[in-house]
Amino acid sequence: MAIISSKKQPQEPNGQPGKQHQESVKDSSHQELLQAEAALDEQGKQEESIRPQRFADYIGQKDLKDVLDIAIKAAKSRSEVLDHLLLYGPPGLGKTTMAMILASEMGVNYKITSAPALERPRDIVGLLVNLKPGDILFVDEIHRLSRMTEEILYPAMEDYRLDITIGKGSSARIRSLPLAKFTLVGATTRVGALTSPLRDRFGLVQKLRFYEVDELSKIVLRTAQLLQTPITEDGATEIAKRSRGTPRIANRLLKRVRDYAEVKKSGEINQSIAGEALQLFQVDPCGLDWTDRKMLSVIIEQFNGGPVGLETIAAATGEDTQTIEEVYEPYLMQIGYLSRTPRGRTATTAAYKHLGFKPPNEQMSLL
Ligand SMILES: Nc1ncnc2c1ncn2[C@@H]1O[C@H](COP(=O)(O)OP(=O)(O)OP(=O)(O)O)[C@@H](O)[C@H]1O
Ligand SMILES: [Mg+2]
Repeated sequence: MAIISSKKQPQEPNGQPGKQHQESVKDSSHQELLQAEAALDEQGKQEESIRPQRFADYIGQKDLKDVLDIAIKAAKSRSEVLDHLLLYGPPGLGKTTMAMILASEMGVNYKITSAPALERPRDIVGLLVNLKPGDILFVDEIHRLSRMTEEILYPAMEDYRLDITIGKGSSARIRSLPLAKFTLVGATTRVGALTSPLRDRFGLVQKLRFYEVDELSKIVLRTAQLLQTPITEDGATEIAKRSRGTPRIANRLLKRVRDYAEVKKSGEINQSIAGEALQLFQVDPCGLDWTDRKMLSVIIEQFNGGPVGLETIAAATGEDTQTIEEVYEPYLMQIGYLSRTPRGRTATTAAYKHLGFKPPNEQMSLL
């Protein structure tokens, strides 16, 4: 998401405008980045309308909320800014949402950008000098920062200072400018790809975990209410079970099931309609889609259960290695269908059973 967003705070579910508003980015060098925002598709806008705005609406992630709740209260009682925060975890678990909620709970403004949009040093400088005391600067995909941008961030994070080099060669001098005390919230799906000097400058480093079915059920019920879609509790649970522990997927599946229910049935989503619809969309009862099943069946059928190299899996499924590593594998490992070994990926007994194959140990006992 290569944007610098200057959107107004999205409307609260009750139709009231959000309490705090987002600073607009005035620097003309960011105009082209702002234009990218205009390209946000309809889906993006819909995602904004269902994004929780307050801590109370942010379902699950209890450990994360407990830690942040204390950090917020402590910062407020000392009238200090919140410590820099690094959020990491697979896509769609609520990193961006949490950054926005933090701003609203702290009563400060936020700016959203993404590392690929900060290619030139002046991009980050423009953002930093415009920050007001307490503001939150959210940098998505922070593991992709360029080296120069990262080096500008070090003193900015540590001492709220901007070091600018003026001139070149032997006449080069460094001038320091004070910055407003701000909070950097970084988000990444690949915490291991962060350089250690950058990671060490975050006071809080928090992992987001996959959601439980009951938490996802609540998310589905909440979204259905916002979308004014009638749904039963067991309908919500059926969608939740197939959402790979991920709120973004739960919301997406809900929309697909809603379409199905409206076109084929009376409109209300119940367990059997959700099941039928998701079968039609090739989402199986565990939430695995075509790519997941292909990955596992390639490992099982062509490589006797593995180990198989990442490149081979990518070639067999037509996905790139990064997507396999960041999107598909974490969930398959979480539910115990895939394991990573130094020599490659292997399918577990549970994966054999799920896909209807006989596990190798049972095959042996038949001999
Ligand atoms: N805890 C939650 N409670 C309710 N809804 C949530 C929660 N977390 C995320 N969502 C929903 O899931 C959607 C995706 O969340 P978000 O954009 O914050 O994910 P992300 O972790 O930033 O993903 P990415 O890594 O792709 O940027 C949001 O629009 C929001 O509606
Ligand atoms: Mg995000």
